[in-house]
Order: sequence, then C-alpha cells, then structure tokens
Amino acid sequence: MNTLHTIAQLRAAVSRARQEGKRIGLVPTMGNLHAGHIALVEKALQRTDYVVVSIFVNPMQFGAGEDLDSYPRTLPEDQAKLHEIGTHMIFAPNVSEMYPEGMDGHTRIAVPVVSEGLCGSSRPGHFEGVATVVSKLLNIVQPDLAIFGQKDFQQLAVIRKMAQDLCMPVQIMGEPTVRAADGLALSSRNGYLSAEQRATAPQLYQTLQQIAARLQAGQRDFAAIVEEARVQLVAAGLQPDYLDLRDANSLQPADEQTTELVALAAAYLGTTRLIDNLQFSLN
Ligand code: PAF
Repeated sequence: MNTLHTIAQLRAAVSRARQEGKRIGLVPTMGNLHAGHIALVEKALQRTDYVVVSIFVNPMQFGAGEDLDSYPRTLPEDQAKLHEIGTHMIFAPNVSEMYPEGMDGHTRIAVPVVSEGLCGSSRPGHFEGVATVVSKLLNIVQPDLAIFGQKDFQQLAVIRKMAQDLCMPVQIMGEPTVRAADGLALSSRNGYLSAEQRATAPQLYQTLQQIAARLQAGQRDFAAIVEEARVQLVAAGLQPDYLDLRDANSLQPADEQTTELVALAAAYLGTTRLIDNLQFSLN
C-alpha cells in the first residue's frame, strides 16, 4: 500500500490498475478513521479489486466558526489501519493540490432541495462543499463504486442525487452506521466529548429508537411525538439542533401515507455537534 499526494500520481496508479482489468473502489474520508470507516473500506475490498481511500479534510465544507482547524488529522494511524486490512492506495492530497487557485472562484456543485433543511439549514454551504469535493474525487479516481456511511444520511442523499443528475458513471453505495456497544454512532467528533458528555451521548440514538417504536406501535401524531422527543433530549442535557421525521427515499417531510421513514437528529453536547438517524418501516 502506498500513500500518494498528487492527482497526477494517483491517476497514473489507478490507470495501471484499470489496465490490469481491475474494478476500482473509492472510499472518501476525512481521516481519523474508526471502525465505521473500516467497515466501508472492507465492503469496498469485497466489491472491487483495487480500493482507493481518500483522506482529505475538505475546507470547503466547513463553515466559519466550525472545527476545521481542530479536526483530528491522524495520517500515520490511518495508514496503519488501512494497511492492516489490505487497502491498495491512499490518496492524501493537501489543500493546494485540491484547490490550487484557492476556493474563491472555484466551481461549486449545488444540489437543490435535498440539500435544504436539516444539516443544510444549520450548516449553510456545507453540502455545496461536500458535493464539490466528492465530484472532484470521483473525477480524479473514476471509480466503478464509491461507498459512504449512512450516518450522514442527508449527505448520502445529496451525493446520490448529484451522481444521478450529472450522469456520473459510478455506483454510489451507502453502508449502515457502525455503533458503540451503548448505541452511539461512531464519529470522529466523538473524540471531542468529555467523559460526562460521552455518557449522555447515547441518548440521541435512544430517542430516535423511541420515536420509531411509538410510530410502529400505531401512534400517528408526528408533531407531538417529535416535540416530546425534543423535550426528552433537552432533559438529558443535549441541545437539539433539529429532530425530524422524513420520507427515507425522498427526504421530504413524512406524512400519514409515508411507509419508509427516517428519523434524523442533530444535537449539541457542549460545542460538539452530533448527528444520527434511524430508518424504519410502517405497514
Ligand atoms: O463524510 C465525510 O467524511 C466527508 O463529508 C466526505 C464525504 C469525505 C467529503 O469530504
């Protein structure tokens, strides 16, 4: 396994693999890899012959006042984890390789509707930054398959829509969220939590599970169920950013007719913003 830092080097390596008839997989990450990322890479290793993992903390998707500077950068540890599972190539460009003329004036990809609301409301410009960097990575690697985590449910929907609308010749795959034993979704940002906050954090997923259980038990007052869940989060010490029930396929607000739902939440514990979601069916 090698780590390449330039687009030209990576293109040459991928092109050699393709000439050998290999199917190419891509797992885009921002590094600080945990078991959730490793599950994505393992899936890519099962489905393709040559797996590229990109590690790039993309400044375009961070807003003013967000954690761009403090976001954990752990390349040596990430390299060791990826080496151990048989990853073929790491692409770890620096910011000037990805944005040689800076970000002002750089082409940006906007994916309307699905980027709006939820994280799109609290993090203006975030999904434009994600869609732009993912489209660049897809163009650089030109993979047959690209894999993303379902923890970032709205991000996955944005990327799927972008790939479909722009006729990108790639299969986009979403993989289930990996959780700690107490249910907390694994996230690089969990590392920001104090011991006390870490003990409170699983309440986020428990609240989503309770929403699903109430609906699956036949309750249908969506607004009341969501409001009570919000109050419960506050009582537990979390500061909800949003808590919502959506159609899992369209990400539009769920109504009485919706059978495939997703409950989505973002909440702060101190300054750390956690997100999670739970997909479920109603018959
Ligand atoms: O989910 C992430 O880690 C990032 O948003 C992604 C998809 C790698 C783009 O920077």
